[in-house]
Amino acid sequence: MATFKEAPVNATAAEKLLTWVDNRFPATKLYNEHLAEYYAPKNFNFWYFFGSLALLVLVIQIVTGIFLVMHYKPDAALAFASVEYIMRDVPWGWLVRYMHSTGASAFFVVVYMHMFRGMIYGSYRKPRELVWIFGCAIFLCLMAEAFMGYLLPWGQMSYWGAQVIVNLFSAIPFIGPDLSLLIRGDYVVSDATLNRFFSFHVIAVPLVLLGLVVAHIIALHEVGSNNPDGVEIKAKKNAAGLPLDGIPFHPYYTVHDVLGISVFLLIFSAIIFFAPELGGYFLEYNNFIPADPLKTPLHIAPVWYFTPYYSVLRAITAEMMYVLMAFVLLGAALAVLKLKMSGLSKLVVMGAAAALVAMMFAIDAKFWGVVGMGGAVVILFFLPWLDHSEVKSIRYRPDWHKYFYGVFVINFLILGYLGVQPVSALGERLSQIGTVIYFGFFLLMPWWSRLGQFKTVPDRVTFAAH
Ligand code: HEM
Repeated sequence: MATFKEAPVNATAAEKLLTWVDNRFPATKLYNEHLAEYYAPKNFNFWYFFGSLALLVLVIQIVTGIFLVMHYKPDAALAFASVEYIMRDVPWGWLVRYMHSTGASAFFVVVYMHMFRGMIYGSYRKPRELVWIFGCAIFLCLMAEAFMGYLLPWGQMSYWGAQVIVNLFSAIPFIGPDLSLLIRGDYVVSDATLNRFFSFHVIAVPLVLLGLVVAHIIALHEVGSNNPDGVEIKAKKNAAGLPLDGIPFHPYYTVHDVLGISVFLLIFSAIIFFAPELGGYFLEYNNFIPADPLKTPLHIAPVWYFTPYYSVLRAITAEMMYVLMAFVLLGAALAVLKLKMSGLSKLVVMGAAAALVAMMFAIDAKFWGVVGMGGAVVILFFLPWLDHSEVKSIRYRPDWHKYFYGVFVINFLILGYLGVQPVSALGERLSQIGTVIYFGFFLLMPWWSRLGQFKTVPDRVTFAAH
């Protein structure tokens, strides 16, 4: 049995209680390891607000979600009216609902910023690969969570959006049709679909999400935070073994994060109170019309945070398949040249030939569109192994690397914009170019990330007191 600590004789009642608890549960130990004695680099900047903001939005979504479930009815005949009831009759129901719907978009804004920070400072590089991988898994869960939540108000966009996306699964060879039937629970989106999406949205996915967030933070605290200089603070310690460039997370960063939270809540409240639909981007106008299985809306578009990936899906047309085949050929030729006809290069040739045959004869563009859309997310998992740059942080990379990241962001925004627009010849061509740029950025990264004149990384972090 573990030895029990005794509280000092003059201890207060609260201190005695804490000692009692500590003898049975590592409360003080956890507090010290993750807050009071967790040393974070002292040079965190604006970009480091978004981790704590993501936690805040997660809490907002869970709390408002609990209250929504008290009045919402997961039944195709009642769902739409129950949301209207929440908006009009439940005291403060409108606020809870707008907090939840605005929270969904805010989550993606915050998480996209958080991910971009990781990209520019190389936070996914050794030893933080697992922090990044847990993050990517969180991102996937978040997409599933948002997609299923969107069906629940049972408006026209809920219904037809789900219909389009679930139908995509039927493009998968062999198992596709059965898989989409399993997801829907019916031959079309129906009451059965609403019930299963409800159960996944309120319990299954949030549980996984919470577990992943805990794993994300435990992994981060195991290796320590990166920072805008990409310098490992653990490399320079004082006599007591504490990092010279580190400061305790609490109170320094808890206070620092209050600033980020205040600004965030200001913007969040302004949207909730003055523009909860945000021009149709946060709540689409078509979703104020009850779902009608007999009336397809003219223009079906997902919510803004999915649209860059939706553009990739729409970009892969029968014509685009020729371009993709040319890329497969080029990639295989380059790989063979690099591998100098070793055993591995034979494997590459066989793989490429199989892909080409499948692309030409067996599987149509719709399937490759789905592969492209999924691949655009899955490729993020591999970032730690795609980036071969000498330094972590963008600060010490050649200047033109910054332009590359700039082009990547602009391209992502353009893909997002195109995904909201109805199909057009010009839009299709632009999203095809955008798709090539998106994948080119990642797939060619092992090559371009090593090129250019790198700057010298300082021994210690750069920090000016303010
Ligand atoms: C619910 C969503 C998420 C929550 C609550 C969350 C929370 C956090 C927190 C609290 C931190 C430490 C503070 C900070 O560095 O900002 C952090 C760091 C980090 N997160 Fe997340 N995160 C989420 C999603 C993601 C996603 C989607 C990714 C990437 C795909 C990601 C990648 C990272 C990385 C690489 C770090 C370390 C950054 C560094 O040390 O420079 N996170 N996260």
